Amino acid sequence: MNISVIGGGYVGLVTASCFAHLGHMVRVIEIDAGKADLINQGVPPIYEDGLEEILKETSGKNLSAQSHYKGVEDADLIFICVGTPSQDDGAADLSYIVSASESIGAALRGSKKYHVITVKSTVPPGTTESIVIPIVQELLGDGSNGIGFCMNPEFLREGRAVDDFLHPDRIVIGGSSAEAVRVVQEAYKKLDVPVITTSLKAAEMIKYTSNAFLATKISFSNEIGNICKKIGINVYEVMRGVGLDHRINPYFLNAGLGFGGSCFPKDVMALIRLAEKNGEDPVLLKSVIDINERQPGRIVQILNERIGDIRGKKITVLGLAFKDNTDDVRDSRSIPVISELLEHGAVISAYDPMAFESMEKIFPGINYHTNAGDALTGADACLVLTEWPEFSKLNDEFNMMKSRVIIEGRKILSCSDIEGVCW
Ligand code: UGA
Repeated sequence: MNISVIGGGYVGLVTASCFAHLGHMVRVIEIDAGKADLINQGVPPIYEDGLEEILKETSGKNLSAQSHYKGVEDADLIFICVGTPSQDDGAADLSYIVSASESIGAALRGSKKYHVITVKSTVPPGTTESIVIPIVQELLGDGSNGIGFCMNPEFLREGRAVDDFLHPDRIVIGGSSAEAVRVVQEAYKKLDVPVITTSLKAAEMIKYTSNAFLATKISFSNEIGNICKKIGINVYEVMRGVGLDHRINPYFLNAGLGFGGSCFPKDVMALIRLAEKNGEDPVLLKSVIDINERQPGRIVQILNERIGDIRGKKITVLGLAFKDNTDDVRDSRSIPVISELLEHGAVISAYDPMAFESMEKIFPGINYHTNAGDALTGADACLVLTEWPEFSKLNDEFNMMKSRVIIEGRKILSCSDIEGVCW
């Protein structure tokens, strides 16, 4: 099939390169010409496991990138993969969806071909029907009969997005017509997974609900972990016993500093605002956020209890990214922890396998190191903030500290003389 993907961010680029890997002709429309150039050279502008290999295989063959909309009129299928960041009140900002819809409408004007426009961005229920369809239809006038509309949410975890695309648990397609859904289904036909077809609005809601449910599992585990800590129980043992019940499952039950990243905090807030706008008081979702906001403060509190006044003390922070296998620090739980440490006058040294350059833009004044041993040398205490697997091998490095006070915000270390936020 001939596919155009609007947006070359992590969702757009992974979607485009994986569709090219599946054999389709794919064009990425990325307004940043520098990024489009990199994609054309087979160089991923972001780090994503496995992406470089797929780009090398497809770029210049059946994958190309450009910063204009010429050629979109040849596409059977157009995916909108632009960002939907948060507005000040937490509601989703749909301005990129509006401009992408306008540009697509203008590009398809006069086309006689049947096209399916599919929203992949995470958007509040009703967005495809009330924003995308009317904008495109108005621009196309009478030509709009030749267009189908779908909503096909992504379930791609950063750092594992290529694998999640090629081996999904399910594909959800909400459609304006059976024919539109059939075209999207055709694009995925090489993937042998269940396809759920729904209304447009239900597909949009499935995405928010999935993220909100996963975030709820994490906040629930954190609440149980906080109770466990008070009465001397290891929450990881508890959740192992709980998660083996197949009705619950073992995933996303890891207590600790809470969830960060560009999705869970933003999507749960957007769902809260959507509920409130519709006259609902979403008490559970508000608690999910509330618990999450409190977790970073707990690690600083434990640190205080262990070493007293932290003014002038050297505190080593291991892990800056919002999770392992990424250089992304957006809404990372390490940000509120570092802010609070700095407020209390700590001298911070930090190590992260990938994210120190991103964090340097936020905290230019702290000491960044290229390995854990250097960061730990002479430290009064160490806080572990990201679940990087390489931290599990650390042990002797902690002997370089002035005093071996180690507090974990993620359960990742294997040495025994440590304390955790929730356990
Ligand atoms: C999340 C979802 O998992 C994807 O399915 C979804 O497509 C994506 O958002 C999105 O909406 O685009 P992502 O934000 O990349 O993916 O990362 P996750 O692996 O879900 O982790 C999110 C946060 O939860 C991280 O800070 C992680 O440390 C934390 N977490 C995760 C926990 O605190 N405990 C857990 O048990 C699991």
